[in-house]
Amino acid sequence: MARRDPHSFNDDTQPETASLDWRARIDFQARALACEATLTLRAPGDGPLDLDTRDLAIDAVDDAEGRALEFELGKPEPILGARLRVILPQGTQRVRIRYRTAPSASGLQWLEPAQTAGGKHPYLFSQCQAIHARSILPVQDTPRIRIIYSAELDVPVALRGLMAAAFVDRSEQGGRAVERWRMPQPIPPYLFALAVGELASRDLGPRSRVWAEPSVVEAAAWEFHAVDDMLRTAEALFGPYDWERFDLLCMPPSFPYGGMENPRLTFLTPTLLAGDRSLVSVVAHELAHSWTGNLVSNASAEHFWLNEGFTVFAERRIVEALYGADVAALQAALGRRELEATLRRFAERPALTHLRTKLAGVDPDEAFSDIPYEKGYLFLRAIEEAVGREAFDRFLRAYVTSFRFHAITSDDFVALADRELPGALGKVQAHAWLDGPGLPPSAPHARSARLDAIARLGAVVPDDETVRSWTSVEWQLFLEALPRPAPLALVEALDARHKLTARDNYEILVTWLEVALAAHHAPAIARTEEVLAKVGRMKYLRPLYRALASRESTRARAESTFARCRAGYHPIAQRVMESVLRG
Ligand code: BES
Ligand code: ZN
Repeated sequence: MARRDPHSFNDDTQPETASLDWRARIDFQARALACEATLTLRAPGDGPLDLDTRDLAIDAVDDAEGRALEFELGKPEPILGARLRVILPQGTQRVRIRYRTAPSASGLQWLEPAQTAGGKHPYLFSQCQAIHARSILPVQDTPRIRIIYSAELDVPVALRGLMAAAFVDRSEQGGRAVERWRMPQPIPPYLFALAVGELASRDLGPRSRVWAEPSVVEAAAWEFHAVDDMLRTAEALFGPYDWERFDLLCMPPSFPYGGMENPRLTFLTPTLLAGDRSLVSVVAHELAHSWTGNLVSNASAEHFWLNEGFTVFAERRIVEALYGADVAALQAALGRRELEATLRRFAERPALTHLRTKLAGVDPDEAFSDIPYEKGYLFLRAIEEAVGREAFDRFLRAYVTSFRFHAITSDDFVALADRELPGALGKVQAHAWLDGPGLPPSAPHARSARLDAIARLGAVVPDDETVRSWTSVEWQLFLEALPRPAPLALVEALDARHKLTARDNYEILVTWLEVALAAHHAPAIARTEEVLAKVGRMKYLRPLYRALASRESTRARAESTFARCRAGYHPIAQRVMESVLRG
């Protein structure tokens, strides 16, 4: 018996699931899915089959032909959830489970009409990464095991269901509609995804369309118009796109991430709708996951850097190809600044600053940070600089072709790199990157003329001429380079001149609010509360709650704002912010 993923009850001596047939009736009143999941095993098995679940009410388990199977639902563990053990009589290849999800399911957010743009209909969406698929489905919830699936969603007839899968058909009867979906490419369970709401779409290209609530869809289509260029650019870099379609779903504001790379249907925060197409590198990032992450997946959260470090690297290559090396360098420089701040914050927990982590007993949502992203990126850049771009590009291609549709560990990466790029890992001291804290002193630096120009400015109020051409990244680099706390007079002058508190580009606004709160700039407090009430993207909630909570004068505001906004946040964000506020 061996449990190889610290976040799953999966035992690798037991049979593996090959496919899933799933039927779900969506009940907005009860905030529950009433489901039937039929798991088909790769081969007939016997003995125990352990599945992951969280807060599922199991009604019946049989062999899909009506013969009841013995099962036992274990006591729930705080991080893992409850093990569902089904006893398979010899020769069993299918297991059918009838169950209901809980209103508090960690992987689902149920929105009241008032929390949507349209205000008339409720909305439901899922977020399964890292280990929330189990709150929606009883599965072997580890990326080591990939499944194909078919699904039937039974939804109110006024609404549309969407899945990260291929649409088959929709039939309507009375007040309900049944939509059928199939996912022909095998996926790790964390890439299972659905959304239900009042949704409209616009085509963006032959392989892409964007979905959003009707009142948002035009803005979303405008912002993401270039997605087809991006797709072709990415294919030129990393090889053919294997998922047929790359559709986008612009989510309600409570979506807890910037983007989620659900296959065929990337989920995106509406905070990207800046009106100037300045934040589309998030789309490049989610697209890049189609190769790094979705084709080649981390074998567990302990190797998360393989997903995110590679994807940030690939994202910046797409950005470089489309917008130039200068833009990619600015984004890399910003990434590094944020990484350095995170490393300072993690000084007390250096083990979490390794690329390869040990996460038994650690909730992946709580361990989440930009370290696997930006340290992972710099590690790959260091190798690229050691071997040259051409050789590194060849390695990237080999990485994708060798491991496509597989889950790998850091050791698998090391073995391939040793074979394809002999000597390179020694040259960059890979062990210090993988198993050492912080940043090795040899970490490469981003260079660009635009970066130097910002660095030369220092702590001043730049004139209108200087900032005219600034993108949000340049504003962020400028703001992050100010002393903390910055003198209140400087902060007031900056705000007076450049109206920063009034910005609605969230990247600029949130960076600014951190600076302004640290300087006790009074107007920043109300604006921060406004942001906390309006969006649920954790990238913004985390620093803003941390900023309010860390100062005596605003500590109580952090608590009262959280108490007021909490119910509107995604269950994952609720838990993570609780722990941010605990300190
Ligand atoms: N896969 C991640 C989001 C995620 C990570 C969800 C871990 C759950 C657990 C996604 O690709 C991501 O990295 N999103 C970033 C975008 C960015 C780095 C451009 C985000 O949400 O900000
Ligand atoms: Zn990512």
